[in-house]
Amino acid sequence: MKFDIACLTLEEKLHLLCGKDWWCLENANGKLPDFRVGDGPSGLRKEIDGTWVSATLMPTLSVVSNTWSREMAFLDGETIANDCVENDVDVLLAPGVNIKRSPLCGRNFEYFSEDPYLAGTLAKEFINGVQKSGIGTSLKHFCLNNSETDRTHTSSEVDERVMREIYTRAFEIALEAKPWTVMCSYNKVNGVYSAENKWLLKDILRDKLHFDGLIVSDWRAVGIFYKAIKASLNLIMPHENDSFDNLLNAYNKGLLTDDEVDYSVQKILDLMEKAVSAVKTIKYTKKERHDNAVKIAEEGIVLLKNDNLLPIIKGTCLVNHPENPLINGGGSASVKTDFKMPDIIELLNKQAKSGAVFEKASHRNCEFILRAHDCDTVIITVNGEIEQETMDRETIKLSNLEEERILQLASANKNVVVVVIGGSAVDMSAWIDSVKAVVFCGYAGEGLNEALANIITGKTCPSGKLSESFPMCIEDTFMKLNHGNGFVNWYNDGVFVGYRYYDKYNLDVLFPFGYGLSYAKFSYTNLKIKKLGDTDFAISYDITNESDFDAKEVSEIYVKDVFASVIRPEKELKAFSKDLIKAHQTKTICCKLDKMAFAYYSIPSKDWYVENGEFIIMVGSSSRDIRLRDTVSINLDESIQYSKVSKY
Ligand code: GLC
Repeated sequence: MKFDIACLTLEEKLHLLCGKDWWCLENANGKLPDFRVGDGPSGLRKEIDGTWVSATLMPTLSVVSNTWSREMAFLDGETIANDCVENDVDVLLAPGVNIKRSPLCGRNFEYFSEDPYLAGTLAKEFINGVQKSGIGTSLKHFCLNNSETDRTHTSSEVDERVMREIYTRAFEIALEAKPWTVMCSYNKVNGVYSAENKWLLKDILRDKLHFDGLIVSDWRAVGIFYKAIKASLNLIMPHENDSFDNLLNAYNKGLLTDDEVDYSVQKILDLMEKAVSAVKTIKYTKKERHDNAVKIAEEGIVLLKNDNLLPIIKGTCLVNHPENPLINGGGSASVKTDFKMPDIIELLNKQAKSGAVFEKASHRNCEFILRAHDCDTVIITVNGEIEQETMDRETIKLSNLEEERILQLASANKNVVVVVIGGSAVDMSAWIDSVKAVVFCGYAGEGLNEALANIITGKTCPSGKLSESFPMCIEDTFMKLNHGNGFVNWYNDGVFVGYRYYDKYNLDVLFPFGYGLSYAKFSYTNLKIKKLGDTDFAISYDITNESDFDAKEVSEIYVKDVFASVIRPEKELKAFSKDLIKAHQTKTICCKLDKMAFAYYSIPSKDWYVENGEFIIMVGSSSRDIRLRDTVSINLDESIQYSKVSKY
């Protein structure tokens, strides 16, 4: 169905540009369909006159990212889309792909990773999952919104190479899924608000990243309306009392031309056409959506430490787990779920292998500690402070009380398992050497208790891996550089973000990017690399599961430019695979590398550029556990070496 812009009056057009209310667009006096958007990345957030619609609370995207599974990312998007279809929401305001530059960022739970390739690849699958069901997405927040405190007035100051290689790269990859919309960020970029930044929205997002969909503002992110429309932003949300007058006055003063108005109106009509012509499908029942939440949580839970204690298959285990553990972060990603999580003790005893008995700990600390003396194993779950939009954390440590309780327990029982719930990295240095096992759940959604019980009892083998580094302490992060003063945020860590940073400065980390334990043991052999073209290679290697457990393994491909004319990271993730390998079986894993595995962004040539020379290909079980490596040479003819790589 085509909506003809010629049928709209100027007034109707200007009303279209600035929304109808907090969530809906105008319908031009009935000439257009009703259209509604809704958050968010952890599930549908829809409120009507203050009443929230119940929806499935999925694991947050940080947990989806810890699955390292394209399949789980797709399933997550598909599942949330079912709630959107049922509740007449046309566009889901997700996924967020902002890079996790600091573990303090309050919204890290909503984002995927510190690595743009992992973040972009999983976001692309999430978008495909949502849009396959006939619902649009909003890839957000474009861009350089990497901290929450002062987000509405801080300017992110960055050079174009750093921006393209790190901060827009995840968007560039995710755009391959053709999200219906992109949402701009609150902050300024190099001094100009994103929403009004023509260099950012037109020159970069449209002309360089080739996005031709609708650009929507973040909510109340626009200061000067006509400047936003002139900068290539198409929809100003939400509607405010003076929105229409704001635009009409600018138009009457000649600050806004008919062509500029029509350009954005047409983007809105195109969006509405997508929505009305999309086939909206509901694939899962409510129960199946919940089961999907459990399945994704299981694959996103990360086993960080295990001194032969898990899975618990025998003896008496005392369990101290909150009645209402944190299962999501705070802010616009909130979701109202009417699912009541089953009691974890009942779940554990139901799943337990014969011989293991799980007992609920008393809430009175002294009895808890006393009882702990007499049990074979103790499990304690710690939450940390809730992480949320609009504010960054002050610390990445647990509270003093929680640290003291862990240490008290460890003095009462030598077999302590700590289950950590949190939206981002946690400094565990005060207590980790005193306990035997650590399980990181992230904010795992309404399926937390079922997923956790399956992991603890061994019904499911853990397969999650960290998609952000866990530093020893916050002082080991770039935070020690002068990175900002509340008004300006200098990205002087450059391309050295996350593991790229810790590698560059040879810093030990508590747990590296890409790290996660299994109950199985995997060996890697037989790396083969076949050159397919100038910069295209086929990589294959074998992984053997040497255990009695059927288990999934994430293998990671990193590339190092041996000698570059610009400073480059020690290694960069350029491919990964998650594969089920049955007990005592060997599987051959195949990946491909293309030009973007080798290129860096050249500011002089304003494009991606592959420099001749040697590159080391590494296959790792984590970024700091490289199992196989080999070297390839690239020797491009001068004529194409300097050509725009992206024009291949
Ligand atoms: C919020 C968030 C954005 C969300 C929007 C609508 O401020 O930044 O992610 O989609 O407003 O709630």
